[in-house]
Amino acid sequence: MLLLLLLTVPDVAAENNVKNEKVSCDGLLFHDVYYDREILVENLGRPYNLVVHKQTGMLLFSHTVQNGTEIDFEILACHFNKEPKQCDIIGGIPGGYAIAYDSANDDIYFGGHDGIYKYNFFTKSAEFFDERGKSIWGLFIRKNFYYIEYPTQKLYVYQNDDFVKVAEAVNIEIDNFFVSKASDIYFANKTALYKVESVGRRTVVLSDEVMVRQIADDKYGDIYICGTDGIYLEDKPFNRIKRIAEIDHAFGITFDGNDNAIYANRNTIYRLLPSNTTGTCYNEN
Ligand SMILES: *[C@@H]1O[C@H](CO)[C@@H](O)[C@H](O)[C@H]1NC(C)=O
Ligand SMILES: *[C@@H]1O[C@H](CO)[C@@H](O)[C@H](O)[C@H]1NC(C)=O
Ligand SMILES: *[C@@H]1O[C@H](CO)[C@@H](O)[C@H](O)[C@H]1NC(C)=O
Repeated sequence: MLLLLLLTVPDVAAENNVKNEKVSCDGLLFHDVYYDREILVENLGRPYNLVVHKQTGMLLFSHTVQNGTEIDFEILACHFNKEPKQCDIIGGIPGGYAIAYDSANDDIYFGGHDGIYKYNFFTKSAEFFDERGKSIWGLFIRKNFYYIEYPTQKLYVYQNDDFVKVAEAVNIEIDNFFVSKASDIYFANKTALYKVESVGRRTVVLSDEVMVRQIADDKYGDIYICGTDGIYLEDKPFNRIKRIAEIDHAFGITFDGNDNAIYANRNTIYRLLPSNTTGTCYNEN
């Protein structure tokens, strides 16, 4: 009898599977394509500044942590290509918040309440680099090494062995800064999101509505903007952006080594993966 039960139960289950298969469409429409969402990290506080080190698949980001009655930041490094999936705090960076990848030299830098730090791949820890005493809001490296100072929101660049204020930006605040592969500059402040074209150096407004949390590019060099209400894509050749994904409380966007989008909402980081249920789920989303 027991044997019979063991033999028949899987059969019944298999039949049910075919007949009553319910597709759960809890993925995401991203640029008119339905994707499944793989949960990468959960139970976070506001994950900012997502960066993937593409050679190793390591995901870096900062998030808020409660320290007594204070809210502070720390930087996590997560590995998904080995089991168990694991996230480690990168220690030694008080208020660790900003993250930048220098692809030309394969270096990673961090910024916190007390300067800029460099990642040591062998010890998996951060070592002090520069700007002791400065609070670092943002870091960006492509051709030049930039940082944004907090709370002045002033932009600095490394020149002749020193960080100096960027002349064009001395009178303005900058909250997000990005240089594309095509050398166009994208920056956002409380007024709007701007693009400084590499040819002619003309500054254009891309949007004065979206509140920007992160700017990223994919392997084709297309520019993605994470706003509080979703992901936007630069709508070339127009001077505008268009929303390609609706997300409540979006906090960041980046791409992994296979150019899969990785995004964060208020407490979870997801990876978008090609879906088998695209046809069924497209219309439900
Ligand atoms: C919490 O805050 C205190 C005082 O600001 C600081 O000394 C301490 O290092 C912080 N702890 C953590 C885990 O960040
Ligand atoms: C934002 O940048 C624009 C363009 O440079 C500038 O006109 C504006 O004053 C800036 N806003 C703030 C709050 O600095
Ligand atoms: C999608 O289909 C492939 C091939 O049939 C299967 O191997 C894979 O597990 C499926 N993926 C999901 C998420 O169902």
